[in-house]
Amino acid sequence: MKHQRIKPFPQGFLWGASTSAYQVEGAWNEDGKGPSVIDKAIFDAELSDFKVTSDHYHHLEQDVALFAELGLKTYRFSISWARLFPQGNGEINPKGAAFYQRLIDLLCQHKIEPLVTLYHFDLPWALQEKGGWSNRETIDAFERYSRTAFELYGDRVNYWLTINEQNMMILKGEVIGTLPPGTPDPQKVLYQQNHHMMLAQAKAMIACHEMLPHAKIGPAPNISCVYPASARPEDVLAANNFSAIRNWLYLDLGCYGVYNAVAWSFMEEKGYLPQITDEEMALLRRGKPDFIAFNYYASATVGADESTNVREHGEPSKAVDQQLAGIDTSVYAGMNNPYLKRNQFNWYIDPVGFRITAREIYERYRLPMIVTENGLGAFDKLEAGNKVYDDYRIHYLRQHLEQLQLAVSDGVEMFGYCPWSAIDLVSTHQGIGKRYGFIYVNRDEKDLKDLARFKKKSFVWYQHVIQSNGANLDPQVEY
Ligand code: BG6
Repeated sequence: MKHQRIKPFPQGFLWGASTSAYQVEGAWNEDGKGPSVIDKAIFDAELSDFKVTSDHYHHLEQDVALFAELGLKTYRFSISWARLFPQGNGEINPKGAAFYQRLIDLLCQHKIEPLVTLYHFDLPWALQEKGGWSNRETIDAFERYSRTAFELYGDRVNYWLTINEQNMMILKGEVIGTLPPGTPDPQKVLYQQNHHMMLAQAKAMIACHEMLPHAKIGPAPNISCVYPASARPEDVLAANNFSAIRNWLYLDLGCYGVYNAVAWSFMEEKGYLPQITDEEMALLRRGKPDFIAFNYYASATVGADESTNVREHGEPSKAVDQQLAGIDTSVYAGMNNPYLKRNQFNWYIDPVGFRITAREIYERYRLPMIVTENGLGAFDKLEAGNKVYDDYRIHYLRQHLEQLQLAVSDGVEMFGYCPWSAIDLVSTHQGIGKRYGFIYVNRDEKDLKDLARFKKKSFVWYQHVIQSNGANLDPQVEY
């Protein structure tokens, strides 16, 4: 649709930015924090580990002051479950609780709305040792942990996110660390884990509504539109299948409390069906979100078979692309998209796909929406005078915001936008060299240097965008 008049971003729009605990905090074993699956996982030895990361834990005041200077209206961060409950359950760690208390205090002092993710990939190791998400006890541990977070912080936190990118954890379990390497019948195990996570999420949503009537809670999956490789009906069907398995399985369960029919038949056909009970389905129907948060980096393209133009699979630890996660070539094959450019890490860049994705989600669920991740990973270079001229990032974000505004003009109810990431942090599996932040952190993969913070050019750009409530995406940037 071509609009004659573009609608402005709504008043009170939550301009924000995101991080996650294990990628930004550091202090991996300090002040009573327990280990998580991330601390036990084996990553590429040439890249940074997750012990110090951006050392946000020891730079809290400075970082929040920078977020305030940036003009953030909201800051999305995750609580490290193992910092609050070192054993995943059992005794609470007072120093861990105090850290998030301090962070939330600082945010409130600066009038920045905290947007809290309960769980972002870092399951406590103590729970993993007992089977992790395969063990139904983890559902109750998550409920207890969520209730504790609501109790501790619910007086000041109005927006909660349950589980970050549950779909990526299931589609890419072996990379993110949900499954121990060598697990037999991994897909079957993962779809059972998925069911357990859905139950955990439903319990957290019910608890949130019970305990914090003023607060809102939602899921945070990674959703992207899926294009057919051609107009061939078989390719269109393949795209439809992949979308059901990649996207709607998770949101249909979260929002409607039902299994998506196509995804269900896929699991049935493959022998992946989870064990479920009627009571559990009733619980899923009761636990409903108030909004949908979604992360978007790029669209996906698939075809019915591998006859032409197949997307190359990289070496899993290095070149994993989100859009190759969950590809099952017996049902759909990942394809190249000749209409799109790629970034330095071979990820496609598709701003129009962002608009399409937002529309698709809104059409299906009719819930208010917030973007909780979107951004460009790049090898930034620190230049003389501690400057980072990241015009490529400005360009990426600008194009995506333009499309988001068009989605708003299309009628999509958007209430916030939180790019990834507020500050440089360690990528899930590609080190600190793959930077996303508005703020540069002075360290390399192995050399921690002084961890000083420097504002990038995109910082100044975003500051102006926020000041204009998104009315001016091309401000004059003096840097
Ligand atoms: C999302 C995750 O999948 O993508 C983040 O929620 C992650 O944790 C982000 O950092 C970017 O991915 P990557 O692999 O480049 O770090």
